[in-house]
Amino acid sequence: MSNIVILGAQWGDEGKGKLVDMLAGRFDYIVRYQGGHNAGHTIWIGDRKFVLRLVPSGILRDGKTAVIGNGLVVDPLALLEEAEQLRAAGIDVNLRLKISNRAQVLLPSHRLVEKISEAVPGKVAIGTTLRGIGPCYEDKAGRRGIRMADLMDAEYFPEAARQVIADHVTRARAFGVMDEVNPDQIIAQYLAAAEKLRPLVCDTAYLLKGAMQSGKNLLFEGAQGTMLDLDHGTYPFVTSSSACAGGASTGTGVPPTKLDAVIGVSKAYITRVGGGPFPTEALDAAGDLIRNRGHEFGSVTGRPRRCGWFDAPLLKYSATLNGFETMVLTKLDVLDELEKIPVCVGYKIGGHVTTEMPATVRELAKAEPVYEELPGWMCSTEGISDWDALPSRAKDYVQFLEKLTGVEAGCVSTGPERTQTVVRAGSIFAGLMG
Ligand code: GDP
Ligand code: IMO
Ligand code: MG
Repeated sequence: MSNIVILGAQWGDEGKGKLVDMLAGRFDYIVRYQGGHNAGHTIWIGDRKFVLRLVPSGILRDGKTAVIGNGLVVDPLALLEEAEQLRAAGIDVNLRLKISNRAQVLLPSHRLVEKISEAVPGKVAIGTTLRGIGPCYEDKAGRRGIRMADLMDAEYFPEAARQVIADHVTRARAFGVMDEVNPDQIIAQYLAAAEKLRPLVCDTAYLLKGAMQSGKNLLFEGAQGTMLDLDHGTYPFVTSSSACAGGASTGTGVPPTKLDAVIGVSKAYITRVGGGPFPTEALDAAGDLIRNRGHEFGSVTGRPRRCGWFDAPLLKYSATLNGFETMVLTKLDVLDELEKIPVCVGYKIGGHVTTEMPATVRELAKAEPVYEELPGWMCSTEGISDWDALPSRAKDYVQFLEKLTGVEAGCVSTGPERTQTVVRAGSIFAGLMG
């Protein structure tokens, strides 16, 4: 038996969706453990594009069970919309999806609360996705939250929701956020959604325990990325959940002792959406080139992603926290046209060079990246699936990153599709494909 966690090693959008879909063939259960519909995981199959937000990326494979764990915040209306889109594409979510009865329920009024911090003049905005994710996790931690099991209880839910919504409205009004809220309408919509979701809601911790006992394999799909993790990321410019490997356990009820391996997904460069320090951000023409070639625009919000150079201290930090020894290096093809490729090997902060991640965003904002520049390969790697077929400078680049970070690049991605992938001989991926 083998249970594997796949997670973002940077600031999100590393290509987790592609990888999870690619490996899902070898697993029985594909399990999301945190986040909500702030995530946007893109999968291309031929000319068909799927962007999954709440539903795990394994849903596209026949015979797999996709699980939304207790660590998520679920907007039932957004989930039903996503299910409808999948149904229109011929995928019957009802046959393949299970939802934890302990997952939190995200209400429309959570978005109202988010406006207090994100849209009130004079407050420092995080640059969130404005989906209500942070406020929903706040209610969870504040022990005011409503969970899926509560939503399924038609006697309990209306009054509980009314109280939570009233609290949201009071707080919003105090900050001058005056958007209309109709609690009766919300409650009616959510009760209707509950009936549609009822067959899917269960105790997924027991479901997964039973699955493991009968020898099934679990693939855990992280959302966001390590540097957006609530504890370990660039706080406060983070999301509100545990995107790191530990979240795979707390967000599903699968004990840490049952997690066999962790794989980090990293771009061959780096991007970030929203605010916060970004030492290797390329604010010049090279950054624009990466954005255009890599189509670096948010899959949820459409916002241009900030683009920059591979940051080795950041990747090492991520490997330290998550315990991965192998990574998937994605979007190598995006660098094809660059004459020179800088790689950050350390940070200079206050006259000292360090390879450790500072604890505060104030310090990180002062970090000057120390770069080593590698020659580009200046030819197409798009779609290459054989290591030996890569140009030698592209191989040098990958090996340079491996040496710097101490993390093996067991898989290198050269395009958005399943087949556009180099699997390195002897790596964990060689046994996982298919
Ligand atoms: P996720 O949130 O980590 O699943 O990543 P996103 O889906 O938000 O963003 C990754 C984007 O890069 C998607 O549009 C993918 O289709 C695309 N992608 C993934 N791997 C590659 C690759 O190796 N090369 C190129 N050119 N695009 C890729
Ligand atoms: P996937 O799973 C990239 C960012 C937002 C913002 C911060 C907080 O597709 O990699 P939130 O709405 O979560 O409170 O926003 O986190 N963010 C992401 N950035 N990829 C994501 O998901 C993200 N989910 C949230 O841009 O900076
Ligand atoms: Mg994404």
